[in-house]
Amino acid sequence: MTRDPAQDYFRGTAYPAFFHREQAPAWIASVAAALGRAAPDPARARWCEIGCGQGYAAAVLAAANPGMRLTGIDIDPGHIETARARAAAAGLENLDFICGDIRDPGLVAGEFDYIVTHGVLSWVGDAVRSAIADFIARHLAPMGIAAVHYMSEPGGAAFRAFHEVFRSVAHRPDPVAEGLRALSAMRDAGAGFFQLYPHAGPTLDKLLADPPAYVAHEYLNAVFRPLSFREVAGLFSAADLGWIGSATPIENIDAVSLPADAAQVIAPIREIALRETLKDMARNQALRYDLFARPAAPLDGPAHLDLLRRWSWRLLPGAPAPGGLVFQTRIGPVDGDARIFRPLLARLGEGPAGFAELERIQPFAGRPGLLNQALQTLLWSGAAHPVLPVGDPAPSARLNRHLLAERARDQAVPALACPALGSGLAFGVADLDALAAGRAERDLRQLTALKG
Ligand SMILES: C[S@@+](CC[C@H](N)C(=O)[O-])C[C@H]1O[C@@H](n2cnc3c(N)ncnc32)[C@H](O)[C@@H]1O
Repeated sequence: MTRDPAQDYFRGTAYPAFFHREQAPAWIASVAAALGRAAPDPARARWCEIGCGQGYAAAVLAAANPGMRLTGIDIDPGHIETARARAAAAGLENLDFICGDIRDPGLVAGEFDYIVTHGVLSWVGDAVRSAIADFIARHLAPMGIAAVHYMSEPGGAAFRAFHEVFRSVAHRPDPVAEGLRALSAMRDAGAGFFQLYPHAGPTLDKLLADPPAYVAHEYLNAVFRPLSFREVAGLFSAADLGWIGSATPIENIDAVSLPADAAQVIAPIREIALRETLKDMARNQALRYDLFARPAAPLDGPAHLDLLRRWSWRLLPGAPAPGGLVFQTRIGPVDGDARIFRPLLARLGEGPAGFAELERIQPFAGRPGLLNQALQTLLWSGAAHPVLPVGDPAPSARLNRHLLAERARDQAVPALACPALGSGLAFGVADLDALAAGRAERDLRQLTALKG
């Protein structure tokens, strides 16, 4: 295989551990159901991550879903070594890591129900990007779903200027610190760039607080390429994969994710590429998380309802009290009507409930579409989540104990495995301390399988 080294990904330092909830089959399948698309059973899914980094998400999902079979692929041997060590320490047997280049066509055999890739597509060259689309086309099961994260146009384009600054100091001993210093000085000096792009300042503040290794992977790579929806959808349509919606649930609901005037302009437009491009313009979208799948006949109304009724929902720790809500979105604060959210939060506050039961509550009777949107909004906001039947909680208990022990040695713990969610959940410092000391509230101990 001949390779252009300019396509090669940054290798200076290990990428930090992250957990992205959009990578969980439970999340993807419930968002797909909301969109009217049936997806493979999350509890038994075959799952693959392209560019898995140090495999943190793979480990959490493997522990939370013992019936799943997971594969993480990454080109960086150091990342794969860390990933394998963590999986072995927690005794996770349903998880494999492959060290290799996604451009290698013989990397893996078989098919996957879910293929995810996060933080890769915009940071690799065209050949790697095409290889990722080819891999997904070759390995996605007929009813499978791919979740693809990338930096998008037009909101992401401004950060090319950041990339240029970091790349200009890449040869210096501490390029991250040098780049951040130069950008901060320009902002303090009132540089026109920061005035023209008001979202660049908050991003710089975030970078100043982020681990330097994260900043290095973000901005020291040879490639930093915000992509347009049209380009990405084109890449996947050439591989016979169509766009089914966003993995970010509110972006599938115009009423809560678009300014009202822009929503009116976009409403009559049917072509997906134009609609999504205009939506990205309305929100000045900097990141996208898109779902792709093979073409399938759309479900009719009754079949869609039947699909939605297979799901049960519960509140997550820290969910707001019943009442009206304010959602902090890309377009600013959006009000959540108390007539919708008060009864929903009140019922879920009593314990998990199935979609069919929630449909009987006012104002949802005869309005399943409204309930569907309300639940997707709560999912996005972190207030509610689908509940899965719990299989064996032991792997979650083992992994979570191991992660809490790593935390005692100053390792980051971005999420713990939660078998009832089929996913992971981020916990604050106080909750992690309480869980480690065995004095957390019962619900937290149950969620994380740390009962003892
Ligand atoms: C920014 S990290 C993202 C890690 C993880 N997905 C996450 O979001 O936390 C990108 C990862 O892609 C991997 N990568 C880059 N090019 C690759 C290639 N050609 N084949 C396989 N992995 C690759 C890198 O080694 C790196 O671990």
